[in-house]
Amino acid sequence: MATATATAKKEGVTFPPELISFINEWKVKPGSLIMILHKTQEVFGYVSREVAGHLAVLTGVPLARIYGVITFYHYFKTKKPGKYKIAVCMGTACYLKGAQDFLEDIRKTLGISVDEVTEDGLFSVDAVRCIGCCGLAPVLTVNADTHGKLRKELLPGILSLYKNLG
Ligand code: FES
Repeated sequence: MATATATAKKEGVTFPPELISFINEWKVKPGSLIMILHKTQEVFGYVSREVAGHLAVLTGVPLARIYGVITFYHYFKTKKPGKYKIAVCMGTACYLKGAQDFLEDIRKTLGISVDEVTEDGLFSVDAVRCIGCCGLAPVLTVNADTHGKLRKELLPGILSLYKNLG
């Protein structure tokens, strides 16, 4: 396996030393690829082609296997998400209260599909599993903010809130 250095850089991608330490610590442990990918996405916000290629070098895991994992789990993103990441909960409680309609409304309003970003780079939207606040169903999050007890008429205000922040 390749030994990562503290200033690993390839094709314009710089891995911070903390991430490299994490990779070096975990790459020798069986079944650690997902942990490494989680940490990598936490650092970069997504796992680009360049980042995946560099991970393959650092971990010794074939690029095809890394891509296999990234594309299997919806959690992993291969494109840079919007500044404001909207996540619409599709857990049972939210689904039963119309979450699918909210998701469609948001997509139509923003003119994007899952895994796409608005032209201004502000928004991306995703469907996610239960986020653990079913009492507030239906729920969506925008980055770390939670918006519960959604109603269709609240959506424009929520989107404007973040649009105005720029
Ligand atoms: S089902 Fe949506 S928060 Fe639990």
